[in-house]
Amino acid sequence: MERQELVKQGLLKQKDIKESSDVMKGIEELEPEEVVDLEEIDELTGLTVIDTDSDEEGSSGFDVGLGEKSGKSNAEASLDEKSFDLDFDSIGKVNIVEPKFKMSLAELLDESKVVPVSVLGDLEVEITGIQDDSRVVSAGDLFICRVGMKTDGHLYLSEADKRGAVAVVASKEVDIEETLGCKALVIVEDTNTVLPALAAAFYKFPSKNMSVIGITGTNGKTTTANLVKGMYEAMGLRTGMLSTVAYYIHGDHKLEAPNTTPGAILVQNLMAKMLHNGTEAVVMEATSQGLALGRCDEVDFDIAVFTNLTRDHLDFHGTEEEYRNAKAKLFTRMVDPERHRKVVNIDDPNAPFFIAQGNQEVPVVTFAMENKNADVHPLKFELSLFETQVLVNTPHGILEISSGLLGKHNIYNILAAVAVGIAVGAPLEDIVRGIEEIDAVPGRCELIDEEQAFGVIVDYAHTPDALSRLLDSVRELRPKRIITVIGCSGERDRGKRPIMTKIATDKSDVTILTSDNPRGEDPLDILDDMLAGIGWSMQEYLKHGENDYYPPLPNGHRLFLHDIRRVAVRCAVAMGEEGDMVVVAGKGHETYQIEGDKKEFFDDREECREALQYVDELHQAGIDTSEFPWRLPESH
Ligand SMILES: Nc1ncnc2c1ncn2[C@@H]1O[C@H](COP(=O)(O)OP(=O)(O)OP(=O)(O)O)[C@@H](O)[C@H]1O
Ligand SMILES: [Mg+2]
Repeated sequence: MERQELVKQGLLKQKDIKESSDVMKGIEELEPEEVVDLEEIDELTGLTVIDTDSDEEGSSGFDVGLGEKSGKSNAEASLDEKSFDLDFDSIGKVNIVEPKFKMSLAELLDESKVVPVSVLGDLEVEITGIQDDSRVVSAGDLFICRVGMKTDGHLYLSEADKRGAVAVVASKEVDIEETLGCKALVIVEDTNTVLPALAAAFYKFPSKNMSVIGITGTNGKTTTANLVKGMYEAMGLRTGMLSTVAYYIHGDHKLEAPNTTPGAILVQNLMAKMLHNGTEAVVMEATSQGLALGRCDEVDFDIAVFTNLTRDHLDFHGTEEEYRNAKAKLFTRMVDPERHRKVVNIDDPNAPFFIAQGNQEVPVVTFAMENKNADVHPLKFELSLFETQVLVNTPHGILEISSGLLGKHNIYNILAAVAVGIAVGAPLEDIVRGIEEIDAVPGRCELIDEEQAFGVIVDYAHTPDALSRLLDSVRELRPKRIITVIGCSGERDRGKRPIMTKIATDKSDVTILTSDNPRGEDPLDILDDMLAGIGWSMQEYLKHGENDYYPPLPNGHRLFLHDIRRVAVRCAVAMGEEGDMVVVAGKGHETYQIEGDKKEFFDDREECREALQYVDELHQAGIDTSEFPWRLPESH
């Protein structure tokens, strides 16, 4: 589909001329090697100018959600299109360019509308960066003394100064006389509250120039975000993503996987980078903690999606009420009936609460599996060990979707994505194509398919609740047997070890206990703790297996253990027979094993693939691998 056609349909917004020209100003500050990139881009820009010229009508009228946010006239916007639109897709992979920003402290306060309690020093000092972590401050930065849960940024002022901070925002009187580089001090009531506004203003409110889809709920956020991204990409929109698993600038341009949810500064920084590199839409996982801590403040969301709500993270939020309120924050921003949309799972009892947030005039698109009144609901579905098929009813027609995402919960995620598509008026064929494109979400019930006769999935479930839900949804796929590999990490929550074993052995026909990041602990001690879940000690387990025969547990299920994870995975795969499902749980998309203080590369998905090939070879050689105990891989 042509870009201009999408603009016409309202799926793509025009960019704001002021914003972009400011960014262009920033480009003048590029490093020499980046100038090469810039030249390349200039050339490419030249190419697209011709394109845009040839289609004048493109800049007229948009409808829902994705229209222009900045209020600039179409004429201005289309002028901007010509000067700044880069046609990345037509020339394949393009280097991601780092935009540069600078402004005076006075300008920043002005733009962010932050009203200081007092200011000291030179407000005209030029800021070239913004940080709340003293360890990553570099010359020219503004340092904001954020008060965290563990520590207080005010303690790191001198470190920030040594690293070149030129100005400081603090909530207490601090002494900058002693500091060498700091030229200005801004005192505010609460640094945490002003931080998102300062960050957004510094990066020139990037989210205002992209369509932003926010996804909240207890489960399914990452999966739904991936599906929505796939769908937007299928519509021809360059789509970025901020999820708990990965950041994407757009398309396949992935950034380092984050360890934690990004803070407000990083969120704005990444969005600026996206916008600068031609991203048109962003899908963002809005975790309750992120929302509560203001990380998503100043993100201009267009669409709010609610997946579901169960008791979770109460350690952080205190009460269920607070947890729900944190999640609701995203929906309170849905105030503009022209531009905003609410997408809500009405099978969840909390749906009315979410729908009631923000403006009641904002259109709602509902989805559900049980509630047939939902705008988007399945007419028929079929779950299997290898794929999920669903016939979806929507207000615009019936869609037939087949997906590699397994389990009933993924039907909810598919429906959520369809509902977003319906909310923005996406062409039905793009909805289907985009969703079908996502055949796996890393580490989420990820199917490992080497054309074997049984299912193999890798999932990151590493808590009792997640493991329990995972095994329940696998059971719904009606496998002959479930063979589960699970371990518990060392130097972490000992209390969950027996519980994990109890759940695994209750819900799987065969359980193989193994190691998962033992760290400084002896793996056998961890396994000993895990065995307590069925009332055994290690001695008892070994005694049971003296004659290489491990009797079934009282419930008829079987249990084995091996402290070497690779062996455990190979055993599980070796046992797999037609119709079985092998579940390797705990690591998911994480690709390491920590033993002692060594962190070695280890990828369950790769291990499963190798095991499948290896076992296949053994079978071809006529070796029976169906019975445990099984030999070490090294012995072959
Ligand atoms: N719609 C859903 N309803 C219930 N459970 C789900 C749903 N979607 C996914 N799950 C379960 O939750 C797990 C995590 O899924 P996903 O990563 O998509 O959720 P998330 O909300 O991003 O989680 P997190 O809070 O860990 O980021 C899946 O492996 C699956 O077991
Ligand atoms: Mg997630």
